[in-house]
Amino acid sequence: MIRKILLVFGTRPEAIKMAPLVKKLREQPETFKTIVTVTGQHRQMLDQVLKLFDIQPDYDLDIMKAGQNLFDVTSRVLNGMKTVIQDSKPDLILVHGDTATSTAAALAGFYCRIPIGHVEAGLRTYDMYNPWPEEINRQLTGRLTTFHFAPTEMARQNLLKEQVPEENIIVTGNTVIDALYLILKRMEHEISLKKVIHSTLERAGIDLDLVQEWEEKKRRLILITGHRRENFGSGFVDICEAIRDLAKQYKEVDFLYPVHLNPNVQGPVNSILGDRGSNNNIYLVKPLDYLEFVYLLQLSHIVLTDSGGIQEEAPGLGKPVLVMRTTTERPEALNAGTVKLVGTDKTKITSSMSQLLDCPKSYQAMSKANNPYGDGKACERIVRHLENELISIL
Ligand code: UD1
Ligand code: UDP
Repeated sequence: MIRKILLVFGTRPEAIKMAPLVKKLREQPETFKTIVTVTGQHRQMLDQVLKLFDIQPDYDLDIMKAGQNLFDVTSRVLNGMKTVIQDSKPDLILVHGDTATSTAAALAGFYCRIPIGHVEAGLRTYDMYNPWPEEINRQLTGRLTTFHFAPTEMARQNLLKEQVPEENIIVTGNTVIDALYLILKRMEHEISLKKVIHSTLERAGIDLDLVQEWEEKKRRLILITGHRRENFGSGFVDICEAIRDLAKQYKEVDFLYPVHLNPNVQGPVNSILGDRGSNNNIYLVKPLDYLEFVYLLQLSHIVLTDSGGIQEEAPGLGKPVLVMRTTTERPEALNAGTVKLVGTDKTKITSSMSQLLDCPKSYQAMSKANNPYGDGKACERIVRHLENELISIL
């Protein structure tokens, strides 16, 4: 009997992490009917990923509004999912991680009595406002879930502490590593891809002579991203001032920041760092396609970010990561010493970055390639589990 699996996602990171799973499920049309719903919580940043992985959604709730808030997203997803579930009648709904999309979709599934599978289950800080609202989103989603696909043993332990039955927790690795390996493999095998990447970077406003200098290690690249809600306001001002001060001090280093489209991010970043006259080694560009982003991640010297996904990808590529948060739900790389928490404190950001730029010993210590988050086979494990277990619960 063919089982109907409905995957729901809506933001850039969810799409990157669910894309390889869509592909894996679709390899077995005799076992699974794979239905993809995108909520469109993100628009441009979601569509970039759908295009790269060649995914045409079956349903698109198209909910994004400029400057939306948590009430907008949650209510639109919850209401939109009612119709999708009634129309598609899935046997199981798969959601991912900790966004408003995933929690609202899981709740919609619960209201319709459809079992939920949670991909990237069990990540915790146990600090309800850090990250906000993601910590509580994932805890709520966990309560609504039947199959918990935990990326690591530590995530499994968190779920066990919360009394999740052992047999419902499956340690799979993180599907982001599957996505990363898919892209790295493409780069390795498709000779013409470098040309495509170069011309996309050029169109994004990045000078190819500069890219060549990063490729030849003549200049060092600091790759920056930031978007966390708990950093809005003074946090972002401090982050931007730290970047501005560092760029002034290290003229021989380049600071590239693909700026998230959230107006709360665009505002301070453009006003503090946007003046090319005084910040001529700071490059602000639009969010990059995943392919180009991974290419630059490989070329980068250090990563400065508050992102969750990048904390998982960069250590595998041997890149030191300074994380602009006070806590992380991904402690594995922290324990391995390749990731360091610097918060949004200006002095902490500048001094930690200076130490890495000035002291080769400190740099080497943080740049040992280490990959605690997966081996590229997470999707295979999830699909195998669904094959075996769906029969028994349905
Ligand atoms: C969301 C997630 C966060 C995740 C992040 C990944 C929630 C509550 N937040 O935060 O967990 O880490 O995505 O990036 O689920 N915008 C665009 N185009 C886009 C995307 C965003 O214009 O393609 C702008 C819009 O003005 C939108 C705003 O950004 O209203 C905020 O988007 P939203 O998804 O609500 O919040 P994020 O900060 O992106
Ligand atoms: N990313 C991307 N283009 C960019 C910046 C990031 O494709 O310009 C990718 C990155 O490699 C990672 C994901 O987006 O896989 C992280 O998304 P984000 O930081 O927005 O969300 P989070 O992971 O914090 O939820």
